[in-house]
Amino acid sequence: MMQIVRIGAMTAIAEGIVAFELVPEGDTALLPFTAGAHIDVYTPSGHVRQYSLVNDESERHRYIVAVQWDAAGRGGSASMHNLGVGAVLHVGQPRNTFELVRDDVPTVLLAGGIGITPLIAMAHVLLRRGRPFELHYAVRADNRVAFRDFLDRGGDGMACAIYRDDDPPEWRFDAGSLAARIKDGARVYMCGPSGFMDAVSRACASRPDIDLRLERFAAPEPAGPGPEFTVSLARRGLSVPVPAGATILETLRGEGIEPDVSCEQGVCGTCLTTVLEGQIDHRDYFLSAHDHKAGDRMLICVSRGKPGTTLVLDL
Ligand code: FES
Repeated sequence: MMQIVRIGAMTAIAEGIVAFELVPEGDTALLPFTAGAHIDVYTPSGHVRQYSLVNDESERHRYIVAVQWDAAGRGGSASMHNLGVGAVLHVGQPRNTFELVRDDVPTVLLAGGIGITPLIAMAHVLLRRGRPFELHYAVRADNRVAFRDFLDRGGDGMACAIYRDDDPPEWRFDAGSLAARIKDGARVYMCGPSGFMDAVSRACASRPDIDLRLERFAAPEPAGPGPEFTVSLARRGLSVPVPAGATILETLRGEGIEPDVSCEQGVCGTCLTTVLEGQIDHRDYFLSAHDHKAGDRMLICVSRGKPGTTLVLDL
């Protein structure tokens, strides 16, 4: 469901990072969200980008997102930074694939760079619930620390550690030493660049007691193009070959079919499709390993069928 919002405020909160306060345009209320949720933002450059909601989920009068300028990006962040207060934007319905579990398990929030955003929303909830938690935040340099006021203010129960790449070596972020210090049975919510998350995931591999939950905001390097296979659309009674190098999504568009999509990188889950038959070559960063093994759903923007086989989709 599309919502129309206006930029109520833009605030530079760190080097290259701007926080946007998005308020409803007109009298309509914003759709509710829970900590960890993100929204699709339809940027002026014509891109759709997913941004985590940063503010407290109890707020109904605004969304806050933070956008990091990405000089190597495809223009979405630049077009956002070039906007001004009062600009009107379309945003999607909040979706949450990174839910904060409300229980008494020890909680660790672990952020790399702009990955701090969903964790700030979680911190609001944990503080309000009076639940003690640790927040570990790794950045390149001190001027990259976002939400500094909130972190400095802290609150009862929040133990916050910030690591900078230009700190003395003994103070820098070290995934191995952090993994060794995490409390037994803790639940760890992590968001950050792929390299950061991969390092922590490897370090936590020897700690099966840790419940590690990830939110990716960008796909790592795409896998190779992959050979041809066939896709069969059960509801339409249509079979089409997916050529080497093309995605299912591109092939369907070529047939005049427009599935719901957003990131087109296998990250957001929007294009999740039920698979009725066939072997999937999963290439997404959204489904869990368990989901991949089940083999009954796939992200058609990136995942493929095994070479030479036919995938039957519930489309
Ligand atoms: S559109 Fe985001 S995972 Fe496919």
